[in-house]
Amino acid sequence: MTRPGLKRDSSDFLTHAAQLLTLRGGTAPRRGAELRELGMIEDGAVLIADGKIVAVGTTDEVAKHTLAKKADEIDCTGNVVLPGFVDSHTHPVFAAPRLIDFEKRIAGASYEEIARAGGGIRASIRGVRESSTEQLADHVLRAFNEMSAFGTATIEAKSGYGLDFESEIKSLEAIRNAAERWPGTVVGTLLGAHVVPPAHLDNPDEYVRVVCERMIPMVVRHKLAEFVDVFCERGAFTPEQSVRILRTAAASGLKTRIHVGQLTHTALELFAEFRPASVDHLDCLTDADIAWLANTDTVATLLPAANYFLGLSTFPPACKLIDAGVAVALATDYNPGTSPTTSMPFVLSVACTHMKMSPAEAITAATFNGACALGLQDRKGSLAPGKDADIAIFDASDYRELAYWFGVNRCRQSLLNGIRIRRQS
Ligand code: NIG
Ligand code: FE
Repeated sequence: MTRPGLKRDSSDFLTHAAQLLTLRGGTAPRRGAELRELGMIEDGAVLIADGKIVAVGTTDEVAKHTLAKKADEIDCTGNVVLPGFVDSHTHPVFAAPRLIDFEKRIAGASYEEIARAGGGIRASIRGVRESSTEQLADHVLRAFNEMSAFGTATIEAKSGYGLDFESEIKSLEAIRNAAERWPGTVVGTLLGAHVVPPAHLDNPDEYVRVVCERMIPMVVRHKLAEFVDVFCERGAFTPEQSVRILRTAAASGLKTRIHVGQLTHTALELFAEFRPASVDHLDCLTDADIAWLANTDTVATLLPAANYFLGLSTFPPACKLIDAGVAVALATDYNPGTSPTTSMPFVLSVACTHMKMSPAEAITAATFNGACALGLQDRKGSLAPGKDADIAIFDASDYRELAYWFGVNRCRQSLLNGIRIRRQS
């Protein structure tokens, strides 16, 4: 998505990073031991011009570049510098937090019980339908700005709380509007199939037809999204309905990603024909699913902040997936029901403390593999000449601190496509 009103700083020279994490090497999603290779350079430097990376190396090496003398220096002494996070799964288009659900859950009700009693995703519909595109866009932009303050440079953003033709299209327009006012990169996803809206509960297939015959063609015509997502789950869409929607999406030239295995198991191989960019959540998995994933380029995107917020004691089997050779990514799942956080560093913390990923694995999953989950690894998720200048600078001298501190923001500055974002506080 383009950003007509935003101007780049011409050139910047980041110097003396205590640890520069380049994540360099290859274009395939990282698996197994590769997830632990951060491509670290001590006393590292990055030279940037016109929104792109020109050179990466030690400060002495990069200082020899002719452009280095003219560039503005950003002294990164005592800092960890790494690619801006790629938050490859977010639901930012909603009007209000779901505080009643929150209190019910604290009192002991489960996510599904709350949804059956009229809460859950359906409780967010009204606010979206009653909001204007501009009002929604302002909410989305606020979330994007929070995310970049935590070091995120690329965001996948889904619709999914309008749940009728007009409101889903409005939601995607709100994402586009916010993207035009934010210097990072945004990838839009149609999640018209989040749940069946109340008006179609007697005939869910009729709603599936609205998604296939009205929403998807409109999205293609106006280039409103690159991906189509489906919530394939008990209480949402059946595997058969999900396949129907994904087939229409693929036939229309859109790429696919799937919410699956969050509450109940669905065999992932059912979706093999779509070669989905990503399958997300994966709390309920079998060995057959893991074997299938290990042999595809489909990224397994884990969203442990949702488990944290739902108060669950179980988490997706990250280590089992990594050991089996599955390409694992991490994302926030920012949404009002299960994961109201805009912080990728918090996700790193939960991934390490609760899923037992190592800090290095978590960082790769939140940068390079996140880029793979969006098909953007040629431009995003690593630091190398020619790549987009998406960089996060952390007040930390050891990369493990990124996953260690939680509930505080140690991100000192972000550069999004070469544009500097300073922390507000
Ligand atoms: O990814 N699982 C489906 N969608 C969201 C939850 C949305 C909501 O509760 O508002 C998720 O967790
Ligand atoms: Fe989600």
